[in-house]
Order: sequence, then structure tokens, then C-alpha cells
Amino acid sequence: MVIDLPSELIDRLRAAQRIVAFTGAGISAESGLSTFRDKQTGLWAKYRPEDLATPQAFQRNPRMVWEWYEWRRGVAAKAEPNPGHYALAQIEAAHPGFFLATQNVDGLHARAGNRNLVELHGNIRRTICFDHRHPADSWAPTDEPPPRCAHCGSLLRPDVVWFGEPLRGDALVRAQQAAAQCDLFLSIGTSTMVYPAAELPFIAGSNGATVIEINPDFTPLSKLANFVLREKAGTALPAIAAAMLD
Ligand code: APR
Repeated sequence: MVIDLPSELIDRLRAAQRIVAFTGAGISAESGLSTFRDKQTGLWAKYRPEDLATPQAFQRNPRMVWEWYEWRRGVAAKAEPNPGHYALAQIEAAHPGFFLATQNVDGLHARAGNRNLVELHGNIRRTICFDHRHPADSWAPTDEPPPRCAHCGSLLRPDVVWFGEPLRGDALVRAQQAAAQCDLFLSIGTSTMVYPAAELPFIAGSNGATVIEINPDFTPLSKLANFVLREKAGTALPAIAAAMLD
């Protein structure tokens, strides 16, 4: 489905020099990956992510949390980037000043071709140990999962940021600086509820950027955004890329 963008939005898109895209689970929904606020599917239907994606849940029941991530890792490995992911890769290819901050851990943006990105909440395809964050690329099979770290013997876990854990490295600072300095901010497929990531579109807006929200549903950003496209990412982003790159 091709959508018509407001002419004023097209002008802003074409004039933009420093573009930031901020994405959440919604951009991967059309790749078949369920969002966090949708009901969990299948065998995990009775759990909420908030009850599984925490250090406490892991310490209480490491096997259950490990197996939930093994299931999610398998689902993510079978998923393919969708037109929304590819549109962002096209925009980066044409705009050296483009920066992508994602909350998603599925690795689909990198697979679509984006390079100037930070994964604020980590990446489900990477595994580390619980006690010292030693990276683990492989491990001996065990009938008592999770497997253990070859260096220190502590339990292995996914390299993602759980609720209550700090974001790691300089990812957040880089994203905050990009948001503060951009002239166009695309907020895509996020409920804009989980901080500190959710502050990024507000940082951009308060620094004078044009803020565009792409989300079929209302979010706390909707009333502040300069433009709201009540569309799926896989529909809106190809139209935005076409308007920018024509
Ligand atoms: N296109 C665009 N947006 C969509 C689509 C779509 N096809 N389908 C759903 N959405 C929107 C929903 O309306 C919702 O606002 O995507 C948003 C998904 O919100 P969440 O499920 O809360 O996901 P997200 O915002 O990424 O969550 C942030 O919370 O659970 C933690 O760490 C986890 O990174 C995650 C963080």
C-alpha cells in the first residue's frame, strides 16, 4: 500500500541533514516477531516479559529464562528484515549523517544493512556469563540448562539489558547526543514507555528537531510529535525513504 505524505512533511524530509531513527518492537512486528505489549504467543502465553526479562527471574529460575530466550533466539533467527527495516538502510546509504538507535534485540537492522546504529537493549544473538559478562560463542550441550561459562563457571545468559539493569557502554550517551543534535527524528514502532530509551524523542523535540511518530496506536509521544503517521512501519517507511531519495 502506498501512502501520500503531507507536502510539509515531504519538505522537512528533503531538507533534513542530521537524521535519527529510533525503533521499537513494532518495526519487527511485520517480520513476525511479537511486540512486548502484545500477548505472548504459544507456550509463553501465560508469562509477561516483565516477569521473565529480569535478573531476579533468572536467579529464581535460570532454566525457564534461558529456555524463553532460546525460543526467542530461534524465532528471531528465522525472521527476515521487512520493508520498514530496508527503508531505514536505504536512508542511511543516502544520508551519511543518519543514526539509528534501536531498542530491539533481534539484529534485524544490521541484517537489513544499517551500520551506524546502537542496540540500546543488547542483542539476543550474543551470549555472556551472568557473573562477569565473559562472552560465550559456544558451549557444551547440557541436560541442566543454562550452560556454564568456560572461564568462570557462572551461568550463561543472553547479552540483553533486562528490566532494572543499566544500559551498557556508551550506547545511550551516543543516542542522546544524536537526538540532541539532529534536525529530524523518526520514532518508529515504540510504545515510548521504557526509560531511559523513551526519553530520546523528547530530547530531539526540545532541541528543535522535527519529530515524526510512526505507530498505528497512540503513545505518550503522539501529542508532542510534529507529524504522526498512524501507519505500520512497513508502509510508512518506504514512503518516507522514497520522498527523501527521489
Ligand atoms: N508498525 C509500527 N508500529 C507498530 C506495528 C507496526 N507494524 N505493530 C505494533 N506497533 C506498535 C504498537 O502500537 C506499540 O506502540 O509498536 C509498539 C510496540 O510497543 P512495545 O511492545 O512496548 O515495544 P517497545 O516500545 O519496543 O518496548 C520497549 O520494553 O519490553 C521492553 O526492553 C523491551 O525494548 C523493549 C522496551
